[in-house]
Amino acid sequence: MLNNQTSIAVLFSGNGTNMQSVIKHVGQGRINARIACAISNRADAYGLTRAKNAGIPAHVVEHGQYPSRATFEAELIRILESYGVETIVLAGFMRVFSEVFVQRYANRILNIHPSLLPKFPGLETHHRVLAAKDAQHGCSVHFVTEELDEGPLVLQAKVPVFETDDVHSLIRRVLEKEHMVFPLAIRWFCEGKLYCNDGTVYFNNKVLERPLQLTIAHKTELV
Ligand code: GAR
Repeated sequence: MLNNQTSIAVLFSGNGTNMQSVIKHVGQGRINARIACAISNRADAYGLTRAKNAGIPAHVVEHGQYPSRATFEAELIRILESYGVETIVLAGFMRVFSEVFVQRYANRILNIHPSLLPKFPGLETHHRVLAAKDAQHGCSVHFVTEELDEGPLVLQAKVPVFETDDVHSLIRRVLEKEHMVFPLAIRWFCEGKLYCNDGTVYFNNKVLERPLQLTIAHKTELV
């Protein structure tokens, strides 16, 4: 490995705007990593075009083409190992991993989720926030475990919810924050400033008792 750069893989299922933001920050030298490959579980994901445009090797591994989760994950691992990937970032990857997969990359998988976890794990978070009439919404970065959206939390950003909001306006407002918190957490992880051990998150070598909240000072790390 050259100059201690971590090899990361981006896994996604759809549009890939979070991947685009990671690509941008790696390209600008704000994340000390090499994006070794990108993998989509959907052949029609627009993110594949984004990866190709950025010159990143892009693979499709359609979960429906495999007889079991174990064989699907074995193919993912085969590809990841062929690139020497050490760290995985889930940029809208809509599959849950088994314990075997999570253990293989223990403490080395980060996910971005569109809610203030532990509120609203799972799908359709924006609809559910509107239905609950919550005044606040946001996004969370967390380490991945085999439980859906339940791994140790790292960093969150909040947004207000207005009476005039619909799902589309909320998605846009939250995505804007996702595109900051995800690269920032990946940056810290690649610098060794952020890590997870035995379900505990450490930031600057101190136990993180509760997730960090995005501040203006944090944002300056990305510009
Ligand atoms: C993002 O909102 C991300 O947080 C969400 O999927 C969207 C992908 O958008 N992920 C999850 O819901 C995971 N549980 P993108 O393809 O434009 O990055």
